Amino acid sequence: MNDRMPATRRATSSPLAVEVSDLTKTYRGAARTRVQALRGLTFQVEPGIVFGMLGPNGAGKSTTTKILTTLSTPTSGSARIDGVDVVAKPAEVRAHIGYVSQGASTDPLLTGTENLVLAGRLRGMSSTDARARASALLREFGLGDTTDRPVGKFSGGMRRRLDVAAALVHAPRVLFLDEPTTGLDPESRAAMWGEIRRLSAERAITVILTTHYLEEADRLADDIMIIDRGTKVVGGSPDELKASLNGDALRVALVEPDADRVRRVAASVPGLRNVVVELQGTSGQLIARTDDASAAVAPAIAALEAAGIVFGAVSASRPSLDDVYLHYAGRSFDRSDAPAGQEQASGSEPANAVEKGQAA
Ligand SMILES: Nc1ncnc2c1ncn2[C@@H]1O[C@H](COP(=O)(O)OP(=O)(O)OP(=O)(O)O)[C@@H](O)[C@H]1O
Ligand SMILES: [Mg+2]
Repeated sequence: MNDRMPATRRATSSPLAVEVSDLTKTYRGAARTRVQALRGLTFQVEPGIVFGMLGPNGAGKSTTTKILTTLSTPTSGSARIDGVDVVAKPAEVRAHIGYVSQGASTDPLLTGTENLVLAGRLRGMSSTDARARASALLREFGLGDTTDRPVGKFSGGMRRRLDVAAALVHAPRVLFLDEPTTGLDPESRAAMWGEIRRLSAERAITVILTTHYLEEADRLADDIMIIDRGTKVVGGSPDELKASLNGDALRVALVEPDADRVRRVAASVPGLRNVVVELQGTSGQLIARTDDASAAVAPAIAALEAAGIVFGAVSASRPSLDDVYLHYAGRSFDRSDAPAGQEQASGSEPANAVEKGQAA
């Protein structure tokens, strides 16, 4: 159904790529106020997967990333990368990780090669090694014909790919990508998604992806964590999270239905549950929940036809990650991205808003 690898569960003794335990971070704000950016955040990331970190503005995503990349220290709690403690051994951790910040991090006046050689030298590589690595990475990222062009003349997508290449010069095992496709056109975004999938599949790199695009997390991430107000709200694979919302919806438009009969027939179809028949004038609609709507369509149609029930359009829909976000974060993703003041003023929706909205 999708081309993701299932998230491997703890089968081996290899260390977790990321292990965060009861992490807190309190910033001192203006006028002696304190901002509790992280309040006991705990999560784990299996090695080799793409892990999506989602959350509204101010949720604590960047704070978490900064602590994990040794750019900030926690107030309490612990964090390990590949089993190495970020506070006790920051230099060792830095050897394990690559970090692509949200803004472009390459020098526009230098060529692609020069940027990568510089990145390699900063990581302590010899000039010869850095050159060899730069040329291999440019080829790998489809930038092999740009070696002499200043990066300022690259397209947005090319520049972003170079940012990722620069973060990989020292062959890190864990790669942090902060909003890697923000501002890219759809074609460049698709190309970047391809690169991320490839890195995960071919290099067995663990990718920690922070994104504001639910679709991006849905397509790329093996595992997702939604965080809000400094704690984890929910985690799991996109499919698991969607499945937790009581299944897919199957809808059938009905013509002059006998509601009782439709209900009886639908209830006899294996896999259908929460059968509801809504009537509107002489027409109506059958709505049912099922674990896999695409698999339920054929038997449902067959049963209705066999019973002589007249029906029109049949549709099967899966819960989207938007539904998941709304359900667990208590507000819709779009609204969560409003400035904090606005968001608070408009209040939160109840956590079960999704179910209320569905006629299940
Ligand atoms: N250096 C700082 N000093 C004071 N407060 C800070 C600092 N950095 C972050 N904060 C606060 O900590 C909270 C978490 O911020 P953080 O940047 O981690 O959120 P985020 O999830 O990355 O949000 P965004 O989606 O807007 O990037 C916010 O309330 C923010 O205002
Ligand atoms: Mg941030």
